[in-house]
Amino acid sequence: MHRNRNLGSQHTKNLDKQLQDYSHLVDLRDCYPFVKWAGGKSQLVPELDLMIPSKFNRYFEPFLGGGAMFFHLISDRNMRFTAYLSDINAELITAYKVVKNNVIELIELLKRHQREYNKNPLEYYYKLRDEIKPVTEIDRTARFIALNKTCFNGLYRVNRNGIFNVPMGRYKNPLICDASNLENISKALRYSKAAIKVSDYKNALVEAEEDDFVYLDPPYHPTSSTANFTGYSDNGFGDNDQLQLAKLFVELNNRKCNVLLSNSDTPLIRKLYSDFSSRIKEVNVSRVINCKASRRSGHKELLISNYAS
Ligand SMILES: C[S@@+](CC[C@H](N)C(=O)[O-])C[C@H]1O[C@@H](n2cnc3c(N)ncnc32)[C@H](O)[C@@H]1O
Repeated sequence: MHRNRNLGSQHTKNLDKQLQDYSHLVDLRDCYPFVKWAGGKSQLVPELDLMIPSKFNRYFEPFLGGGAMFFHLISDRNMRFTAYLSDINAELITAYKVVKNNVIELIELLKRHQREYNKNPLEYYYKLRDEIKPVTEIDRTARFIALNKTCFNGLYRVNRNGIFNVPMGRYKNPLICDASNLENISKALRYSKAAIKVSDYKNALVEAEEDDFVYLDPPYHPTSSTANFTGYSDNGFGDNDQLQLAKLFVELNNRKCNVLLSNSDTPLIRKLYSDFSSRIKEVNVSRVINCKASRRSGHKELLISNYAS
């Protein structure tokens, strides 16, 4: 096992060297999110695409989640930039780092999870979910991805003791090991010299400056008092957090960053961004976070920017 891991790391280093030498020739197409994530923006990508600034320097995504926008920029749009990717969820961020630096070993472990899961999905899911967290980051990431691909709606929810407690999802043949996507992402993360860290969004944006592009996709502001399940971290993201974020939006605007924000269409969000009302765009989207099918469609979301697109 250890010998394989060393070989894998060596292989990754060699790939890095090749990337540096031939970076201008590297094709980074065909990357998409490697986790299913609550509030993931894959569905909104065509709308977001229309809002991408024509030119920017560095890219900041401090509510990274599944990273649909980052993968779109680097893959479908084939854009090249230095990326600053962060999220408050430490397990998620560890997974990005492992995909970046240890993809070969990760794929081997995921293949093993796939084989075991396929033998007896129900038994394997709960055995994996309820076992003690593995020690190494690679083992932890393989478990994290395997659970993400097989749990209910790709939710990430932990109890007070930090133990993942989402029930099994209803999938026929979930793809736990999507090797080619993981290899492509690994390349993309290394090529974009992505700085990946666990961080609160405020700290992550301290260095954003003129001509940088900042995409803000915070946990949704709930559209009704019953729709208040944010499901992202222990603390959720309340009205006061939305207010603090809106203040930071203004500050980033003053620093002449290009800022784009997505959120639900609620009176509070419209009020907080009323200074940018001419740059608010309404889009229709169906959300899958709610288990009631009737509440999955017909939602409006807002895309708010501080620049003409
Ligand atoms: C709507 S999701 C982002 C979805 C992402 N755009 C995608 O396409 O998958 C919001 C993310 O914000 C993160 N988050 C919540 N509070 C945060 C905070 N204070 N600072 C940074 N990230 C936070 C959550 O962990 C979650 O991944």
